[in-house]
Amino acid sequence: MKLLIEPKQNNLNEAQIHINGAKNALLPLLFSTPLVDGKTSFTNVPLQLKDYQGSKKILTRLGLTFEEGQDRVQILNNGLVQEGDLPSSLTKATRCSLYLLGSAAKKNGHIAIGLPGGCSFGRERRFDLHLDGLRALNAEVRVENGLISIRHLRDIDVQHTLAFPSVGATTNLILYATLGHKEVILSNCAVEPEIINLINFLNQCGAKIAVDTIHREVVVQGVTSLHASEMKLIPDRIQIMTYVVLAMMHKKRLHLKGVTSLGNLQTPLQSLVELGLTYDYQPKEGILIIHGDQLTSFKGLEMVCQPYPGFPTDLQPIFAMLGLVANSAGTIKDNVIPERTAYLDEIMKLGAEVMYKDRGILTQPINETLKGAAMCCTDLRGGMACVMAASVANGPSIISNADQVFRGYDNLLDNLSHFMHVTHLEKEQMVTALNVQNQVA
Ligand code: EPZ
Repeated sequence: MKLLIEPKQNNLNEAQIHINGAKNALLPLLFSTPLVDGKTSFTNVPLQLKDYQGSKKILTRLGLTFEEGQDRVQILNNGLVQEGDLPSSLTKATRCSLYLLGSAAKKNGHIAIGLPGGCSFGRERRFDLHLDGLRALNAEVRVENGLISIRHLRDIDVQHTLAFPSVGATTNLILYATLGHKEVILSNCAVEPEIINLINFLNQCGAKIAVDTIHREVVVQGVTSLHASEMKLIPDRIQIMTYVVLAMMHKKRLHLKGVTSLGNLQTPLQSLVELGLTYDYQPKEGILIIHGDQLTSFKGLEMVCQPYPGFPTDLQPIFAMLGLVANSAGTIKDNVIPERTAYLDEIMKLGAEVMYKDRGILTQPINETLKGAAMCCTDLRGGMACVMAASVANGPSIISNADQVFRGYDNLLDNLSHFMHVTHLEKEQMVTALNVQNQVA
């Protein structure tokens, strides 16, 4: 899929965007449903997201049935079926297919799945911490011929320390420990809001999970079954901050609706306040108003991405784009996914000076106006960075492989249209696009 991005002239200086539930909250919830008997309900669900659609296909294959309506999905689990292995043609739709090792394997006693998908960041994303943890929890683990197979042996009391607070490994081990007869203590856990959301859901379903976010410790007392429950998804903190950054880049006053709390946004929002950004928050209405229109100029950012409550790696490419309109140089270090830099080569095609140097990303103020370019989305957030950069260029840009961005941003074209002209190119428009591409190449 290709997008044509053109700068918007006579731009209104006010915009309104509604924020739906978070992809990274939704996916672990969906993959927890093999553990839950009966009909589970989730609301505030971005049903159009490509990662939701891919997850639905996988879970349907396991025998779960989905009923969708507006922003709601009901998932019925009347017992899992598994005819043979789950092939990688299905599991590669999302990295979260790994969560079946924690949920479906524990519920049914075993599972064999193809390798997971998700953003590649230029090199294979490891899942050794998932497998180490599952082995510690007494699972028999095999990886051979492109399949990961897990067989549950018997429950044991166990204390396991993760080598790194991995979001995925923490999630998987919580899922695996939830059903059983023993106590599992997990140390050095990730405590991202999406994990806390999953724990809250599982506890609503009858699980016994306690979390100490300060000391990164989770204690799970196994229970024999989980009953169905209902949950409203937390808003997508990465989408919120993406549109806040766009409002700053385009000097807009932005009303964000559906922002139920600022708690999860503290670190990134504060870093923008330090650049001079002001905002109002109406908690009862869930409205966050960003005064991007009152910003004259701001300096380059200095920041380091760390596990939550540190600065999120998912915002690294997004905040790097602020460097394009800042008035001094900035640096960003990513200590969570340092290899997340492939998008920089694409951004440089616009004539921007953003580069990987000294194990960090260096952003320089623009000397000359950026020109349009043909760019390719390397991954979800890096792809969004390309779109954002194109919106401040002086001329049209074409962004290919744009499906990547639709994996994690819902209502994308409407939301972007507040800041830029954006056209989803259909086949017949490709010819015109090719002409533009020749102009911008
Ligand atoms: C989750 O991925 C998110 N995905 C990612 O968001 C996010 O970037 C990441 O957490 C970090 O916050 C979902 O929630 C669906 P990790 P996950 O395990 O769980 C290394 C987005 O753009 N590692 O915390 O895969 C790994 O290589 C996506 O929305 C191992 O070495 O992240 C990485 O450098 C992209 N071995 C670091 O840990 C492992 O077994 C963090 O990974 C697992 C991870």
